[in-house]
Amino acid sequence: MCGIIGVAGNTEAVSVLLDGLERLEYRGYDSAGVAVVSPDGNLQVKKCKGRLSVLREALSRQEPLSGTIGIGHTRWATHGEPSDVNAHPHVGQNGKIAVVHNGIIENYLEIKQSLIRKGISFVSDTDTEVIVQLLEYYYGKKSDLMDAVYAVLNRIKGAYAMGILCSDFPGQMIAAKKDAPLLIGYGTDGNYIASDVTALLAHTKTVTYMEDDEVAVMTPDQVQIFDRDGCLLEKEKQLIAWDISAAEKGGYAHFMLKEIMEQPEAVWKTISPRLANGEIVLEELAEDADFMRGISRIYLVACGSAYHVGVVGKYVLEKLLHIPAEACLASEFRYSEPVLGESSLVIVISQSGETLDSMAALREAKRKGSRVLSIVNVMGSSIARESDYVLYTWAGPEIAVATTKAYTTQMVLLLMLGLWMARQLNRIQEGEYRKLVGGLEQLPEKIKKVLGNLDLYQKAASRYFNHNSVFYIGRNLDYALGLEGSLKLKEISYIHSESYAAGELKHGTISLIEPGTLVVALASYEPLAEKMLSNIVEVTSRGAEVLAVATEKTEGLVNSQAAEVFVIPAVHPLLQPVLGVIPLQLFAYYIALNRGCDIDKPRNLAKSVTVE
Ligand code: F6R
Repeated sequence: MCGIIGVAGNTEAVSVLLDGLERLEYRGYDSAGVAVVSPDGNLQVKKCKGRLSVLREALSRQEPLSGTIGIGHTRWATHGEPSDVNAHPHVGQNGKIAVVHNGIIENYLEIKQSLIRKGISFVSDTDTEVIVQLLEYYYGKKSDLMDAVYAVLNRIKGAYAMGILCSDFPGQMIAAKKDAPLLIGYGTDGNYIASDVTALLAHTKTVTYMEDDEVAVMTPDQVQIFDRDGCLLEKEKQLIAWDISAAEKGGYAHFMLKEIMEQPEAVWKTISPRLANGEIVLEELAEDADFMRGISRIYLVACGSAYHVGVVGKYVLEKLLHIPAEACLASEFRYSEPVLGESSLVIVISQSGETLDSMAALREAKRKGSRVLSIVNVMGSSIARESDYVLYTWAGPEIAVATTKAYTTQMVLLLMLGLWMARQLNRIQEGEYRKLVGGLEQLPEKIKKVLGNLDLYQKAASRYFNHNSVFYIGRNLDYALGLEGSLKLKEISYIHSESYAAGELKHGTISLIEPGTLVVALASYEPLAEKMLSNIVEVTSRGAEVLAVATEKTEGLVNSQAAEVFVIPAVHPLLQPVLGVIPLQLFAYYIALNRGCDIDKPRNLAKSVTVE
């Protein structure tokens, strides 16, 4: 969703800001803007509705904004429609202070009304404008900028990551954070703030994650971070392992295709550091193996695709551990009064580590005394920091809005967690454990094999891209896979699609099947492949056209009924969805390509959903 970049540097800020905003584009936005302050205190702002190219174009038509200290923002409209006026940065009525803000100020109406009563006039419909107007108001009264900043932070309620410029202090930038991510980057040519590490990679890999209620004051040569009482803090710096090339397309037409193709390597990066002499080693959990042994119930909580990983996890963990496991949508979980206690384990799954609903579910679980283990991709993200245990997927930056490599690596990590726990609990036989560990090690090679059939998926997509409704059916792990396949298709190609447990179809949905309806039938889960065949016959006998996903072992069963079969290597049934998802990702990708969709940035979607 909204993105922030800021620089206190030694060179002109605008190009740094625009470059940073470009790297944040993938998060989804509907307007963009920049503000810079020149050494003589001239605060200049430009902001426009629409893509970054509109802002660039507008900037090229005017006198260049000059200054080496600046803030930039991509806005995803929440309060007030997408418009030039509602775009950030916002400036106070005296033109002294500019602010960019991510998050939502919950008590903005009350503050706005009280400021209006004091004669302050507002120009936008945003909650953010109250921050800057209030800041100028307090600054006017207190004559000390930092006092004014703290007064504002004490008054506002809600979530914020913000960057602040003031024309009276042209050499500095101020940043503050609560419940929305913000990092500080230490470069050789200046210091930076960003809501997302990808915006910093071109300048530095040395960062500090700001914690809630911290305030930073930054100049080109110095970064000072203060706590909520104004005491100076000593903060640790971290080195980001991601390389800038990982956040670039590298010759691929889309980030999504690049990230699909990166899956063998990404999966290997997830697996290899956690395997030693054929044994799964989860150092992150080692000290608490006793707690793991006492778990009586597991909740897998997440949103969207990460929730689909949770559904895979439910089947896998119950099978391996014989402990009841439930996959829950984070947005429902938090309000469902879940029965949680000290012996429950809540597993939160999130690529970004910033999804608000997942974060809220995590806090609810902790409030009720449960331990939270998170499976996260972005290092240092909020969910990672607030969890009792974190397992990082190490998939590298994922830029395309539709998740692919994060999904597969989350699934692999859950499998590893299940196997590790099964070992701790003595619930898995040596032979089965060995088979699964061996299977895990071979996954990258098998994924490469599936990726070798690009032309097959491409051809199928050109045959089916005109369909306007597609059904996905499967049983057990194939059902979980269908949920993801269907979501991939609808989010990037805008084709209506539904996913059903295959046995459920005849309880209502089968009435939608008519001659020519496309049904993607997943028959890769070998234990139930024969049952799937009956469900396939149910739909073909009503005229449906079936595109099946089968393994080398189940192919023979479904061949005669399917118009097309994507055949994938057969692996242990619990590992099969890791391979099964790949043809579904590519099918969706090529369908969207045929339909001329904006694949990396589908309409109405954001990469990291930080609103409820
Ligand atoms: C779909 C997709 C979303 C995310 C969901 C959760 O392709 O990417 O459904 O899976 O918004 O996001 P994270 O994993 O960042 O919590």
